[in-house]
Amino acid sequence: MSLTETIPALDLTSIRAQFPALAQTVNGHPAAFLDGPGGTQVPQSVIDAISGYLRESNANTAGAYATSRRTDAMIAAARAAMADFFHCAADEVIFGPNMTALTFAMSRAIGRELQQDDEILVTLLDHDANVSPWLAMAEEKGVTVRWAEIHDRDCTLDMTDLASKINTKTKLVAVGYASNAVGTINPVKEIVRLAHTVGALVYIDAVHYAPHGLIDVAALDCDFLVCSTYKFFGPHMGVLFGKREHLQRLRPYKVRANTNAIPNCWEWGTLNHELIAGITACVGYIADLGRRTLSEKGLPHPSAFFAEGEHSGNQPQSCSRRATIESAYCVIHEHERALLERAMAGLQKIPGLKIYGITDPARFDERCGTIALRIVSGKPGHTPLQLATKLGERGIFTWDGNYYALNLTEHLDVEKSGGFLRIGLVHYNTMEEVDRLVTALEEIVRA
Ligand SMILES: Cc1ncc(COP(=O)(O)O)c(C=O)c1O
Repeated sequence: MSLTETIPALDLTSIRAQFPALAQTVNGHPAAFLDGPGGTQVPQSVIDAISGYLRESNANTAGAYATSRRTDAMIAAARAAMADFFHCAADEVIFGPNMTALTFAMSRAIGRELQQDDEILVTLLDHDANVSPWLAMAEEKGVTVRWAEIHDRDCTLDMTDLASKINTKTKLVAVGYASNAVGTINPVKEIVRLAHTVGALVYIDAVHYAPHGLIDVAALDCDFLVCSTYKFFGPHMGVLFGKREHLQRLRPYKVRANTNAIPNCWEWGTLNHELIAGITACVGYIADLGRRTLSEKGLPHPSAFFAEGEHSGNQPQSCSRRATIESAYCVIHEHERALLERAMAGLQKIPGLKIYGITDPARFDERCGTIALRIVSGKPGHTPLQLATKLGERGIFTWDGNYYALNLTEHLDVEKSGGFLRIGLVHYNTMEEVDRLVTALEEIVRA
C-alpha cells in the first residue's frame, strides 16, 4: 500500500487540547509556540506521569520495598518505550541528564581507545554539543580533528568533502541528523556507510531530528545516536542509543559500586526518576497519535504500510508500539511539510528577508520546518534579537542568536551581528500561527 495515498490529516483540535501550555496568552494574544527547537511543550499525560511518580512511587532503585520496586519497574518500562522509539533493544538505551552530558561522558570513554595520529571528523553544521566534547577528547589524546565543510548556498553538508576526509585513520564521525539552526536533514545513513567502510564509529546527534522524523537505529546501522526528550514533547532528559557491542566493550568512567552490566554501568548516580516516568508517557503520546489517527480513518494496522523486512535488525520490545510510532511520524511529517510550505512562501515575500538553508520546495524532503532568517536590507533596527522581542510582545515565540550552532554562525559570518531569527515548526503548530507570524514580521519590518 502506498503511504502517501492514505496519510490522514492530523486532528489538531484534539492534539492541541492535550497540551495545556498552548492555551496561554501574552498581551491579549494567543501564544504561538514557534520555539520548538529550543524545547517543545508537553501533553497532560506527561505532566500526570511525572507528578504520579512523585505521588506514588518516589524512591531510590533496587530496594526491598514497594515504592522502590515500582521505581525499578517504571525505569524498565521507560527503557522499553525508548527502545521502541529508537528501534533497538532495551539494554542499548542509556538515560542521562541531557544530550550534552551524555556526549561528554561517551566521548571520554571512546577516547580511551584512541591514540595519537588517529582522526575524528566533525561538521560545521553541528550543534556545539556534538563538537566540543570531541574537541576536548581529541586535545587530551592528541587525536587530529577534521572538519566537514558545508555548501554555503543552501547550508547542506558538502558530502564530497566529507567523504574525502574519511580514511583509514578515521576512528569516529560525529554528525547531526538535522540542523537545529537551518533545518537541513543530513544523509546520515550514507555517512554511516562511508564511515563503516574504514571501521570508524558514527555518533549521531538526533536532538533536532527527533520531533520531526522517525528514528530507526537498526536501519541506520549507526553506532551511537543521542536525543533529548524535551525536544519531542517530553521532560528535560537525554537518551542515548549505543550498539550493545560498543556499550559492552568500552569502559565508562564510573564508580566501583556500579556493576559493569549494561546499560546501568553507563548511568551515573541517581537518575531523575520522575522525568524518566515522563519519558514513557512522551513515547506513549506519540504512539497514541499514530494509533488514533489511523483508527479514526478506518485504516489498517500501521505495519501494513511497511514492506516485509524493512525493519530488520534488532528486535523492538513491542512491535505494535513501534508500528504506531512509525504511523505517527507519517502524519507529523505531512502536517509539518504543509506548515513549512506556507511559511516559506509567506516569508519569502517580505522585503529584505533572507532565509538560510534550503528554500526550494522540490527539496523539502532534505529539511525540516526550522527556518533561520535575517533582515539583510531596508531600515535598521531589525536584528534577530529585536525581531524576536517584537514578535514575543505579540505572543509569537521565536528564538534569536546561534542556538549553539556556533561553527555555522561563525562560518556564515552572522555571529557578530546577532545570528539568526529562528522559526521552529512542530506538529502542534497551526496554519493560523504561520499566517500570524508572516503578517507580524511583515508589519515589524515595514515599521
Ligand atoms: C541539535 C542539538 N544538539 C544538541 C543539543 C543539546 O541538547 P541538550 O540540551 O539535551 O544537552 C541541542 C539543544 O538545543 C540541539 O538542538
